[in-house]
Amino acid sequence: MSQSAPATTLQDIIAHAKEYGFVFPSSEIYDGLQAVYDYGQNGVELKNNLKAAWWKSMTQLNDNIVGIDAAIFMHPLTWKASGHVDGFNDPMIDNKDSKKRYRADQLLEGKAEQLANEGKADEAKALLEKMGQLLSAEKLDEVRELIVAENIVCPVSGTANWTDVRQFNLMFSTQVGSVADDASQIYLRPETAQGIFVNFLNVQKSGRMKVPFGIAQIGKAFRNEIVARQFTFRMREFEQMEMQFFVRPGTEMEWYENWKETRLRFHKAIGLPAESLQYHDHEKLAHYANAAVDIEYKFPFGFREIEGIHSRTDFDLRNHQELSKKKLQYFDPNVDPETNKPYGNYIPYVVETSVGADRLFLATFCNAYTKETVGEDDKAKERLYLKIHPALAPVKAAVLPLVKKDGLAEIAQDISNSLKSSFRTVYDDGGAIGKRYTRQDLIGTPFCIAVDYETKEDNCVTIRHRDSTEQERVPIASLKEKIGQAVAIERILEAI
Ligand code: GAP
Repeated sequence: MSQSAPATTLQDIIAHAKEYGFVFPSSEIYDGLQAVYDYGQNGVELKNNLKAAWWKSMTQLNDNIVGIDAAIFMHPLTWKASGHVDGFNDPMIDNKDSKKRYRADQLLEGKAEQLANEGKADEAKALLEKMGQLLSAEKLDEVRELIVAENIVCPVSGTANWTDVRQFNLMFSTQVGSVADDASQIYLRPETAQGIFVNFLNVQKSGRMKVPFGIAQIGKAFRNEIVARQFTFRMREFEQMEMQFFVRPGTEMEWYENWKETRLRFHKAIGLPAESLQYHDHEKLAHYANAAVDIEYKFPFGFREIEGIHSRTDFDLRNHQELSKKKLQYFDPNVDPETNKPYGNYIPYVVETSVGADRLFLATFCNAYTKETVGEDDKAKERLYLKIHPALAPVKAAVLPLVKKDGLAEIAQDISNSLKSSFRTVYDDGGAIGKRYTRQDLIGTPFCIAVDYETKEDNCVTIRHRDSTEQERVPIASLKEKIGQAVAIERILEAI
């Protein structure tokens, strides 16, 4: 019998991720680099599997979506056209006593959350609305006044001795070439989307794509986040999985609704429970959007965004067309039933889906972290394991000889070798079998295959299932198919 254990904290997650080779602080021997992380031997497998599930869900399940891989560096005018040079800012405020820097909007959002928790939902809503209005109108003095009026103090110094609110551009810049003048300044892309926009016609023409169609991409993005915390939730270097879906103007809201639903199904299909997911409509729309919603996951620190779905209008393509002086239009031969004439040339509208690979990783990891108390009274003991979807698990099967001697190790090695080409399999003969099961539980291996003396007689092995710990006896010859089916990425794709 099992009972539920105390709630998981972010500290539990960070410690487990480090101890079992999922995520390490970057350049840790030099005390790390704030908000930058490295994926370890198990983390990279889990992250790659998540990326593969996303990539296939986009490019394999949809005939009209293709992928690209654009460069991180782009012509600097890209970021002028996209609005990032002028508008990709966060409002920051410093506390003069503690010298700590905060995002002004996050201070106010924190206050609104506190009000909502105290049952003052109307006050919370009014505060967020007021903040949205002031930020949209760039009334930064009044944002500061609002912070003071709400008695918001610095959590470190406890004072309200605030500086003015200033805008802080989040883009990292660097120099290209050897001459350090303004003309050679370029940016590290703050989103992957622009690599798709500038290639819109290249892909449309070379792929003979017809609207509606989409372009998908996975790649690194960089933001000089003011407040970087909550582990891999907010990083300065991270990975995005974005898809821009080009549609005929006027049809964008249908597609927006469609992608909203499809993307939620994806998150459920990878194993995130429905009750831990929710939509959150944006209070303050980004400079490019006419509708936007977040899909949020319930992290140990509350519901937070993992994916954004944005109706971006023709903002990006139109601005690129204007600045580059290159036509970015599509000729639509379909007949408009109202005019009886072809729709003709237009700049498509865009519905974007944008999910962070690192946030998806963190959500999957938090969801998988399972602590149970097994047994009762003096026999009660705690069991910890990662309940990762079998198709996403870093290792799919571990082959464990009961003992190393009497030929059992050789049989186990042979089994491991025969499975390796189909899915990630490891061989482990170190220590008591119970300890070896635990080792695999802690990294989320769904199947352990035990080789014992009977195996020599009946050519069968015992499969031990991670979640139930139940054991079943199966012929060696059936392992590849049986485990292969359970760990195939198709299991996720079929569930979307
Ligand atoms: N192209 C649209 C765009 O970039 P966004 O809402 O700023 O929209 C999309 O970012 C997704 O990228 C977010 O939902 C999140 O998953 C991820 N993301 C954004 N900033 C991040 C950061 N600093 N660290 C980790 N992931 C981040």
